[in-house]
Amino acid sequence: MSFVSLADQVRPSASDGGPTPTVRAAQAAFADRFGKAPQWLAAAPGRVNLIGEHTDYNGGFVLPMAIDRYAIVAAAINDDTRGPSGPRVRVHSTALETSVDLPLDAALAPGEPTWANYVRGVVRGFQRRGFDPPSLDVVIASAVPLGGGLSSSAALEVATATMLEAATGTTLDPREKARLCRQAEHEFAGVPCGLMDQLASVLGDEAGALLIDCQFEIVRLVPFADPNVSVLICNTNIKHALADGAYSRRRAECAEAARQLGVPTLRDATPEMVDEARGIFDPVVRRRARHVVTENARTLDAALHLEARDFASVGALMYESHRSLRDDFEVSCPELDVLVDVAGEIGDAGGVLGARMTGGGFGGCTVSLVRTRRVAAVAERLASEYKRRTGCTLTHFVSGPARGAHLITPTDAS
Ligand code: GLA
Repeated sequence: MSFVSLADQVRPSASDGGPTPTVRAAQAAFADRFGKAPQWLAAAPGRVNLIGEHTDYNGGFVLPMAIDRYAIVAAAINDDTRGPSGPRVRVHSTALETSVDLPLDAALAPGEPTWANYVRGVVRGFQRRGFDPPSLDVVIASAVPLGGGLSSSAALEVATATMLEAATGTTLDPREKARLCRQAEHEFAGVPCGLMDQLASVLGDEAGALLIDCQFEIVRLVPFADPNVSVLICNTNIKHALADGAYSRRRAECAEAARQLGVPTLRDATPEMVDEARGIFDPVVRRRARHVVTENARTLDAALHLEARDFASVGALMYESHRSLRDDFEVSCPELDVLVDVAGEIGDAGGVLGARMTGGGFGGCTVSLVRTRRVAAVAERLASEYKRRTGCTLTHFVSGPARGAHLITPTDAS
């Protein structure tokens, strides 16, 4: 399979057509709070990962798709010189109904409130690169479910970066923009994530999913639009507390596996190498490695099948991916397993082609490929079985592939 860089295909910032409710909410909150209209409206999507989980920080392959749920950042220059103390970014979150003042005359550091750390980290990234933001008034609104494994934080980081590009008159290389946002996540939110979420949010494309080679940061569009097949996202509405520490532990275990195999990253290991090293490995480390090397192979296969519209084969790989994440990587949880089990019980006859957990795990969402004419019935059955078997309530939505980060012209949005 050949890889084509998408860097040249990134569309210039432009109007995205009619305003969405989130854009309208951001604009209304901005006017309400600051008594003026925003100069810039930046939008960045969340993502769902079709396959390729916990492979990005191992230099492997991922196949995410940006979703039609956006974080919106509205902003305008604040030239109020009567303000209390020096240049600053005043940020208001519509979700939390709280505001924070970030001073620009001292190096920003992580702090309270923690939701503002994504903004602090991205502002700091611009400053470090010599692009000093002016004093700004900022309002954030988001339609990406928080904590649902759909990259609400990457969407906020990338929307903030997109707004800061406009406010500083800079255009970052898309990969550099994603790296800047990842650095914010690492240093300001304390999550040692890979690059998948930020790249998907920057480079998302309505035409399909993105096959990303995370070692070389090469992105290839995998078109798959087919009106007969839909991507159904089901949110368990569960986030188990161990999620954060477990993510760092998995990363460390993968690094240890690579060290024991004598390769720079697990990208360079094969299933045979992991198999042959059976005697050397700690069994846990071996299972982690087995997941990563088999997941890389599944992801490349899935991209080929997706492009060929062989959705049944993609679906089979999704079920396999889930089993590997559950048994070898141990990042699933009972609620996710119930949803994937029920999807399997509904099966092809009922319109489900495949399902798996998506994102970091320990809660969050599943992603299913479903025949479009059966989506409503499938979602209903998943919701009722989920309630019956776990006592919890499911939320769900369908999303096609969506456009990556862009500016919306405020006049178009009014
Ligand atoms: C989180 C991280 C990503 C990736 C996934 C697991 O979403 O932010 O970088 O590692 O988990 O695939």
